[in-house]
Amino acid sequence: MKKYKDLLPFLDKVAEGDVLEVLRQLPSDSIDLGITSPPYNKKEKNKGWLVDRVIYKGARDKMPEKEYQRWQVEVLNELYRVIKPGGSFFYNHKLRWERGRMLHPMDWLRRTKWVIRQEIIWDRMIAANLRGWRFWQVEERIYWLYKPKGGDLIGEELESRHALLTSIWRIPPERDKNNPHPAPFPIALPTRIIYSIFGDERGKVVLDPFCGSGTTLVAAKLLGHHYIGIDISPEYVEYARRRLERAERERGKVLEEISKHVVRKTFKERKERGEFVGRYRKKRSLFDL
Ligand SMILES: C[S@@+](CC[C@H](N)C(=O)[O-])C[C@H]1O[C@@H](n2cnc3c(N)ncnc32)[C@H](O)[C@@H]1O
Repeated sequence: MKKYKDLLPFLDKVAEGDVLEVLRQLPSDSIDLGITSPPYNKKEKNKGWLVDRVIYKGARDKMPEKEYQRWQVEVLNELYRVIKPGGSFFYNHKLRWERGRMLHPMDWLRRTKWVIRQEIIWDRMIAANLRGWRFWQVEERIYWLYKPKGGDLIGEELESRHALLTSIWRIPPERDKNNPHPAPFPIALPTRIIYSIFGDERGKVVLDPFCGSGTTLVAAKLLGHHYIGIDISPEYVEYARRRLERAERERGKVLEEISKHVVRKTFKERKERGEFVGRYRKKRSLFDL
């Protein structure tokens, strides 16, 4: 099909360039799955953030908030165009504050074309704010965005072995000191997403439009899929390309994540053995305990 011919120059490559400029060259309805963490518009000096170490080489992360949100809506709508109907995009972001006012990703996600299928809490099990004005923010958010197919806004059912991982993901951040990127994904995260969506299928196309050090792309490659990466920083693009060449080194971490996608006992088995199945039980009075 012509559509896929137009995709070939980008397939299994990392494109260096601006996200919108590259996305506009991709054919519509051609990508199976996307995953990304965009720049967060951190604006370290506005008392909302204390993360001064996350500074990208080759990209500024400081825009007027309105402009930032408009940009994110434009990028997300362009991503909607390139994803296949029935396909998904996982968008990682977090709650921020600007001069005391909370900025929530839903503020702009609801202005995109996407159906918001789920909000997942990513418990990073650390706090970046060692002091501050609020309880330590240990979590980020991952939005499962869905492009409906034929008017169906719900999509396919998730297999139990993946669904059992729940909507709170406890995954510590990446600690590889050789990675020059200030905020890489831990590889378990894109692995969890890709494996949950495709299971043991192979040969799908996975896109990360702000791919940084290429973590999503490495996970996709090791799981047997094609990948497309985009990043504006020549340094990260170069690192991602080298990392993809020696992807095999990271297979152990990918297998570790996959080993978590299991149903140890089905509902039927638990019921047959008289074990707890989450059924309603008549409430007892406190005095009966
Ligand atoms: C949060 S980081 C992504 C990290 C990535 N998930 C990883 O595992 O390394 C966001 C990335 O967006 C890139 N970026 C910033 N502005 C961009 C733009 N206009 N177009 C493409 N990439 C951009 C930055 O260079 C940075 O690597």
